[in-house]
Amino acid sequence: MRGKTVVITGGTSGIGEVAAIELAKKGARIVLIARDRERAHATFAKLNAIEALSALTGYYGDLSLIADVKRVAEQIAAVEPKIDVLINNAGAMFTSRQTTAEGLEKTFAVNHMAYFVLTNALLPKIKATPGARIVSTASDAHRGAKLDFDDLQSAKSYSGFSVYGESKLCNILFNRELAKRLQGSGVTANCLHPGFVATRFGDNNPGFLGVAIRIAKPLAALSPEKGAETIVYLASSPQVEGKSGGYYYKCAPATPTKEAQSDADAKRLWDVSAKIAGIGA
Ligand SMILES: NC(=O)c1ccc[n+]([C@@H]2O[C@H](COP(=O)([O-])OP(=O)(O)OC[C@H]3O[C@@H](n4cnc5c(N)ncnc54)[C@H](OP(=O)(O)O)[C@@H]3O)[C@@H](O)[C@H]2O)c1
Repeated sequence: MRGKTVVITGGTSGIGEVAAIELAKKGARIVLIARDRERAHATFAKLNAIEALSALTGYYGDLSLIADVKRVAEQIAAVEPKIDVLINNAGAMFTSRQTTAEGLEKTFAVNHMAYFVLTNALLPKIKATPGARIVSTASDAHRGAKLDFDDLQSAKSYSGFSVYGESKLCNILFNRELAKRLQGSGVTANCLHPGFVATRFGDNNPGFLGVAIRIAKPLAALSPEKGAETIVYLASSPQVEGKSGGYYYKCAPATPTKEAQSDADAKRLWDVSAKIAGIGA
């Protein structure tokens, strides 16, 4: 990975931070997109301890806001000469329904729209980088999820886990359509399930569910080091060179649900997302 630039979201915690560290150990230059400068600087300190890493760069924005994602992407596109790997990884779950200042349900906004808008905005730069890769963190939480295209903002009914599962189904459908659109471009797009991993994930939630998540993690979950392995594999391994459109778990192809394999839904989600983001489909 020496000489390669890796842009990553959600690199200030959990799976993303470990992936950034492991890719830095392989020689990659890490570009963080973060919402919190202090947390980014704490990650930079860990990255800097690895070896003399030159020019660690941070770009700052709230990925639940399309305007912030577009602004950050514009800054990156203006400054970074190339992007070898984009890792869409920032994600969250909210036990009660919240909306952003732009009127989107927050899980949909952070977990899906940020992946969609950031990728599309950086695509010209990514396509101009030979052999570039896009890696998106999805989840087996998509199992059991179905998309209601008449209620993508979950305004009619809301359950934190269900809406989270739907957002992760969006990740796989997004990756499917993206890979299709990237055919022949030399850029690959793959997504993954990291496993159930003990990170800060879910800690933002008060109440019973938040407590249950905090209790379950140390009992059942993998370490962030284990959880990051498939991200690192998809971002760097020669074994997946040229492979695209896959869903991976434990560094091997996995089969997502039939809902996640629907070309029609993948295209429909792409078109709806482009409309929401105000970009050409
Ligand atoms: N943990 C699991 O068991 C598990 C299982 C399957 C899939 N996943 C997926 O793995 C990914 C990473 O999660 P994790 O487990 O590593 O969780 P985590 O420790 O909570 O890390 C989440 C990361 O996303 C960032 N983030 C969240 N909301 C953001 C926003 N609005 N703007 C900018 N950044 C934001 C966080 O930034 P801050 O540092 O500022 O909070 C943090 O860097 C997510 O996509 C999640 O859905 C996790």
